[in-house]
Amino acid sequence: MNKFIFQTMDFRILPSLLLLLCCQMLFSECSGKIIDEIKTTDPVVVDKYAYPLKIVAPYQVGTVMSLSTFSNAPAMTIVKKEFGSVTCENAMKIQATQPTATTFDFYQADSITNYCVRNGIRVHGHTLVWHQNLPVWLTAFQGDSAAWENILKTRIKAMLTHYKGRVKSWDVVNEAINDDGSLRAFATANNTKVSLWAQKLGKDYVARCFQYAHEADPEALLFYNDYGQEYSPAKINAILAMVKDFQKRGIAIHGLGLQFHTNLQRPDADLKNAISQMASTGLLIHISELDISMNGSQTYIQPTATMLDLQKSKMNTIASFYKTIPAPQQFGITFWGISDANSWIKNDWPLLFDVTYAKKPAYYGFWDGLKQ
Ligand code: G3I
Repeated sequence: MNKFIFQTMDFRILPSLLLLLCCQMLFSECSGKIIDEIKTTDPVVVDKYAYPLKIVAPYQVGTVMSLSTFSNAPAMTIVKKEFGSVTCENAMKIQATQPTATTFDFYQADSITNYCVRNGIRVHGHTLVWHQNLPVWLTAFQGDSAAWENILKTRIKAMLTHYKGRVKSWDVVNEAINDDGSLRAFATANNTKVSLWAQKLGKDYVARCFQYAHEADPEALLFYNDYGQEYSPAKINAILAMVKDFQKRGIAIHGLGLQFHTNLQRPDADLKNAISQMASTGLLIHISELDISMNGSQTYIQPTATMLDLQKSKMNTIASFYKTIPAPQQFGITFWGISDANSWIKNDWPLLFDVTYAKKPAYYGFWDGLKQ
């Protein structure tokens, strides 16, 4: 067939054929350049949200981990990619770390801490003293106040000594103040929760916790952590008074944790006011347990578009408003969970990632808030 074509070809068309070939070569050369140009302008085309939170954030953005996080592949992917700080959700609490008054079990907390240290993730210690999560050996303890004091001192010293250098900041005391501003101690009409610590050790026990922590690790940054600053002016005033009192007495306190377990109904102004008031102390400010509940009434079986949008907008407000406090006071924002699948209030869909570990509108709202 080819032979036939060659034999029958009219050689007068050869110059035209050559011209056609040259044009074709020129065209493919040009189109190659266009493709190259698109490649070199890739960052403009690429989805800006591909940059993870820890890269975009001007301050530390964190999450919580448990031992079970290690066997949850999608959760681990998110931790590694997005977060620069980790708080142990439960692993450093007394129930997890202290099987008896005099023995310690650091297995869970060490697993998380060592993983974070190896991967350049900051670990924030949570929590040394809290009225909840008390083991039976403690609630049943019959010693006098000196024996209780010894338990307190032993615990704080052991935790800070064991984690010295690996954990550089601690929630020393968690939730010691009631919503009405009084010290949590005995049951009240409005609040049935009690604190055995306060009952056994007296009202100045919070100050002593900070002193013991400072003695055990003078380098550690010591935080008072609580919830409700966004709705309770009385609690704000009590915290401000406590800080002033500590400073007057030379008791080391370096930071305040605002948990911010909040919801869609909470006005933005309340969140901003809580941040500003706490920041007025000049201490480090940690939004320490952020989540925004969408289903407090438990009436929905899945979030609506309106709810997701509102959550997005609140996350945006918190991320951007946090930047208005002086940079040296920005300790960071920690989410209380990785995805809605593993939140302590999972039916409220309170976090940045949904039950399938996909980014929610809240993620984009928070991300934008970091950049704005
Ligand atoms: O690990 C046990 C498991 O072995 C057992 O089978 C199961 C049965 O209930 O319980 C498991 O322990 C639970 C633990 O969470 C781990 O899931 C405890 O019962 C449960 O009380 C514990 O709840 C934690 C709660 O603090 C009390 O310690 C939540 O996960 C944790 O998110 C929550 O975190 C607190 C902060 O520390 C302080 N601020 C408020 C915040 C929310 O309550």
